[in-house]
Amino acid sequence: MLPLMENSVAVALTAGGVTVLVDLGAHELPAVTYWGPELPGLDAELAAALIATAVPVAGSNDAEPRPRVALLPEHRTGWLGRPGLSGSFAGAGWSPAFTTTTVTLDGEPVTGFTSGGAARLEVTASDDAGRLELRVTLEMLPPGLLRVRAAVRNLAPEPYGVDDLVLTLPVPAEAVELLDFGGRHTLERVPQRGPFGFGAHVRENRKGRTGADSAYLLHAGTAGFGFAGGDVWAVHTAWSGNHVHYAEQVFTGERLIGGGELLLPGEVRLATGEAYESPWVYAAYGRGLDDVAHRFHRHLRARERPVPAQRPVTLNVWEAVYFAQDADRLLDLAERAAALGVERYVLDDGWFSSRRDDRSGLGDWVVSRDVWPAGLHPLVDRVRGLGMQFGLWFEPEMVNPDSAVARAYPDWIMAARPEWPVESRHQQVLNLAIPEAYEHVRSQMAAILDEYAISYVKWDHNRDLVEAGDRTRQGRPGVHAQTLAFYRLLDELRAAYPHLEIESCSSGGARVDLAVLERTDRVWVSDSIDPHDRQRMLRWTAQLVPPEYLGSRIASGRSHVTGRHHDLGYRAATAIFGHLGIEWDLAEATDAELADLGEWIAFYKRERGLLMAGDLIRMDGYDDRILVHGVVAPDRSRALIAMAVTDSILPDPAARLRFRSLGPDRRYRLRPVIVGRPPSGLIPPRWWGADRSGRVLTGAALERAGVACPRVHPDQVVLYSADAR
Ligand code: GLA
Repeated sequence: MLPLMENSVAVALTAGGVTVLVDLGAHELPAVTYWGPELPGLDAELAAALIATAVPVAGSNDAEPRPRVALLPEHRTGWLGRPGLSGSFAGAGWSPAFTTTTVTLDGEPVTGFTSGGAARLEVTASDDAGRLELRVTLEMLPPGLLRVRAAVRNLAPEPYGVDDLVLTLPVPAEAVELLDFGGRHTLERVPQRGPFGFGAHVRENRKGRTGADSAYLLHAGTAGFGFAGGDVWAVHTAWSGNHVHYAEQVFTGERLIGGGELLLPGEVRLATGEAYESPWVYAAYGRGLDDVAHRFHRHLRARERPVPAQRPVTLNVWEAVYFAQDADRLLDLAERAAALGVERYVLDDGWFSSRRDDRSGLGDWVVSRDVWPAGLHPLVDRVRGLGMQFGLWFEPEMVNPDSAVARAYPDWIMAARPEWPVESRHQQVLNLAIPEAYEHVRSQMAAILDEYAISYVKWDHNRDLVEAGDRTRQGRPGVHAQTLAFYRLLDELRAAYPHLEIESCSSGGARVDLAVLERTDRVWVSDSIDPHDRQRMLRWTAQLVPPEYLGSRIASGRSHVTGRHHDLGYRAATAIFGHLGIEWDLAEATDAELADLGEWIAFYKRERGLLMAGDLIRMDGYDDRILVHGVVAPDRSRALIAMAVTDSILPDPAARLRFRSLGPDRRYRLRPVIVGRPPSGLIPPRWWGADRSGRVLTGAALERAGVACPRVHPDQVVLYSADAR
């Protein structure tokens, strides 16, 4: 007996402890039969058995046979959930029936059952009328992370309109809870959790950017899943324009999670021979949320041009001076920064044309001679003379209506009608899909990058896209083309200036996704630097992005955003778990603060090899007001652990500190780390010892028994190091 039905094809891929089994039937679109922890012994016989036993019994009223839910589910099979591809030839041909024509694994044709490790499965198919060609790609990446995408090409003489293209993966019925994110400007990536009920949980984003409230990562997991435990399946749509994440449970019980781009009416209309390609939808299985996060972290750490762990300590001038750029003041700030050990200095908004506030000049990327009569040279030269890199702010996709560019080329502004869209921060969006507009921005940026020794660009994007139409094409929707043009501009500048690092900023953290992170080197997590809120924002932004890509800073004692006051120790011990910087008018800092700040910078520099390259561990089981997290060296020889008490707690002191993932049998010296002034209200436990030399424990003891905690005031962090003996 043949293990698989004749002509049937199946592919199993295993990497990073994860297996996916893809059933291609006999010329059918690929469907995931199994996705989860590694399945040993997965040979042709077992694959055939899994595929055969996965077929459910049809209810008396259901389609026969029960629909097969492909990565791109097809309505014509009887599937009544969201179809993978929605589109038509002006209303006709809206339910295509696809037959696969080729199946390759890493370019080699596949027949029967094939298994492999990290590899790319590519399937092409055509519809029964021969009018559409489809390509579905599934890639198993080395960290056990999957990604899927599809492209559809129109072969017919008449245009084909693509309304929606989503890709989706099945999760088992035990996945009963959902976790994704909401947020807003200055409070990004706030987790929300709820039951995985019937119907669709759909997170649409129509902001033309990833969004401060983006679903970010949509997880489905077993009851009570946490950082360490439970089975968790997650998807992330890697797209910086309009997009969707969704979870769907249909009446027949299938549960799916998926995503794709969100297309506006008529936005993608394919002429003969043209194709539309979806963004990658990433899919991660993990045992607990940390395992899911580690797969994404390993993926980013293995990308082309990864960022080094030795992230330069960065000073950004924004909260120090805002728009009040003054050469003497900024030169003085550079001197103070260098004296503290800062390694990169970033000049923010306000250096160009008439941009003295946020009402004018945006889009004219020419140095203001009013503010900088000799150009930026005196500042750039001084910064570099002090041994620091120089960085500069741009907002390439935006204009103030009060700007030379907007006055000269009003048609370059995105609009769906003759009137411009509602304003936001006094600005409009420049249509980069217009070649002349693109070239205008590219060449103005290139002129600045050619003239000055710039190592770093902070790339901002400060408004949502409303009525983002192309005025040169009757106002047709332009978000898709704008998103692609944005990627093209990044790619082109990175190729032309390979040494340049780029930060993705968008009113703080509104453009954080894996597509932008293929092309940029860090994200600005939030405009709020308040450590109380940052603790959670860093904790959850790290669900997708590793710490060395998370822009993190120490600001003034009183948060400019929340008005709260916090000790320097709390601000610094929060910020060091990302790519450290300062955003604070150092001229206002006291000598004592500067001394402590210098100590923190020196500490970060000593420890960044671990902080920026270790495995992130987040602990469950504390009141949400205590956040325990840390980083562990990949060889388990060291860890830095933080216990952040973000509010008044009961009991006081906190429950015992426990920490996982150290070598269970290895012995570690656990000791408190005090940098600068000790945490406020500190009453240490006896085991710290008078010399704070701590005690020696095994990794297992620290995980299972834990150690007594000190008492501290709310809004304090207690740091520990664990070093293997
Ligand atoms: C955005 C950014 C800030 C700053 C300002 C400048 O809000 O998030 O960090 O650069 O723009 O206008």
